[in-house]
Amino acid sequence: MRVLGIETSCDETGVALWDSEAGLLAHRLHSQTAVHAAYGGVVPELASRDHIRRTIPLVEQTLADAGLDLDAVDGVTATAGPGLLGALLVGLSAGKALAFARDLPFLGIHHLEAHLLAPALEDDPPPFPFLALLVSGGHTLLAEVAGVGRYRLLGQSLDDAAGEAFDKTAKLLELGFPGGPAVARAAEGGDPEAFALPRPMADKPNLDFSFSGLKTAVLNAAKTRGEDADAAFRRDLCASFQEAVVDVLWRKSARALEQTGLERLVVAGGVGANARLRARFAAEAEARGVGLHFPRPEFCTDNGAMVAHAGGLRLLAGERDGWDRTAVARWALDELTPPPS
Ligand code: KG4
Ligand code: ZN
Repeated sequence: MRVLGIETSCDETGVALWDSEAGLLAHRLHSQTAVHAAYGGVVPELASRDHIRRTIPLVEQTLADAGLDLDAVDGVTATAGPGLLGALLVGLSAGKALAFARDLPFLGIHHLEAHLLAPALEDDPPPFPFLALLVSGGHTLLAEVAGVGRYRLLGQSLDDAAGEAFDKTAKLLELGFPGGPAVARAAEGGDPEAFALPRPMADKPNLDFSFSGLKTAVLNAAKTRGEDADAAFRRDLCASFQEAVVDVLWRKSARALEQTGLERLVVAGGVGANARLRARFAAEAEARGVGLHFPRPEFCTDNGAMVAHAGGLRLLAGERDGWDRTAVARWALDELTPPPS
């Protein structure tokens, strides 16, 4: 089955063509960074308007990259939530229209499910069950994944998401947008132990996270130097912040592995692209004999491939949505159920 997938939940337009036998055939991404950079964050109305301009041309280019046309498509899927409502509606409506015109099955997909199944796009797909650490701009959570649609939430952030902490820190230190990659770049060569930043909730026995206090600690540290903060100071502060986030994420993941007895860990979502996180997790996992899976960095951040893949698995299993399927801004991961067997 060849499935066309469309992602428009936030500030990237992603389109991909996935084949249940051959895997990923083609994928295209248009990032709206330039649209939002002047505002220091995503402006929802501008995001929706840009998705309207980009979606259909990206579909055409993706099909052309694969050397195929719409005749070769057997099903269509698009992100239905969670995310920015107006942005979601663009991709969802485009997907439904294409499917309706071509008399193809259609399915709206959960954005976080797409993220956490994305490592299966790589050469060594993780077998079920596994522990998933999902670290994106809007969510930080740990879940036990027993199969497609079989998710048990173990813990989540009580305030800011990990990506949001990166974004807010970047804004505070005026490093630019988007924040995660900007902080990671600014941290290069810095001393991760220069500042003793807190590890919020790290020693609590639960599996929840809290990142808003860390952001305040960065703000207070930055204030100690004020206008005098030179490049070395900022480098050390960014390195210390990044280390604190990665440290908390690893310690909670290690605890979740212990509590569940799971032996495989999947890390997905935009923060999973962070090089320091990948290095620390790789070293810790190897030392403990834990299997570790990441999507390639470009499939950690939002993309069409993960949507075509996750929607494709469900369409293949016979799941379908009616034409009344609509977008939802909020949608808990553990509301999902497995596809019909
Ligand atoms: O998964 P994603 O692309 O979108 C959401 O679903 O939210 O995640 C975006 C988040 C942003 O907060 C961004 O700053 C962060 O991922 N991010 C990073 C890196 N690349 C993206 N954070 C740290 N290091 C990176 N290299
Ligand atoms: Zn995402």
